[in-house]
Amino acid sequence: MTDKELLALAIDARGRAYAPYSGYFVGASVLCADGRTYLGCNIENASYGACLCAERAALAAAVCDGNRNIVKIAVIGSGEGICTPCGICRQVISELAPECLVICGDNSGEYEAFPIKELLPRGFNLPVP
Ligand code: THU
Repeated sequence: MTDKELLALAIDARGRAYAPYSGYFVGASVLCADGRTYLGCNIENASYGACLCAERAALAAAVCDGNRNIVKIAVIGSGEGICTPCGICRQVISELAPECLVICGDNSGEYEAFPIKELLPRGFNLPVP
């Protein structure tokens, strides 16, 4: 699957975002090593701290399906310029998929790709017992 195809899936997921408070709609798609893909969108809440980002929704779908061999994650927002993952999402991507490439799309059809290690150098981690 090409990066643009993965972004097209993220755009599809963005169409289901629930973002009545910010009005900023985000879609994400995860590509696993076996070719399977998982989608997520942002899901807001009147209790703002309960808002869920699209990237973490997509990662949760992959993990719930038992598929943790994550290769890439694409993300696209509804504003100008590329949408890059927030700090919490960088931390979560970096734990679940430390070698992951993050494909950040904009709304003119362009994108930039960053290794998660570049987006979050020296992220927090604990040894897994
Ligand atoms: N959002 C995401 O879905 N992913 C990010 O990486 C950044 C922010 C969402 C959260 C909230 O619903 C809206 O975008 C505005 O912050």
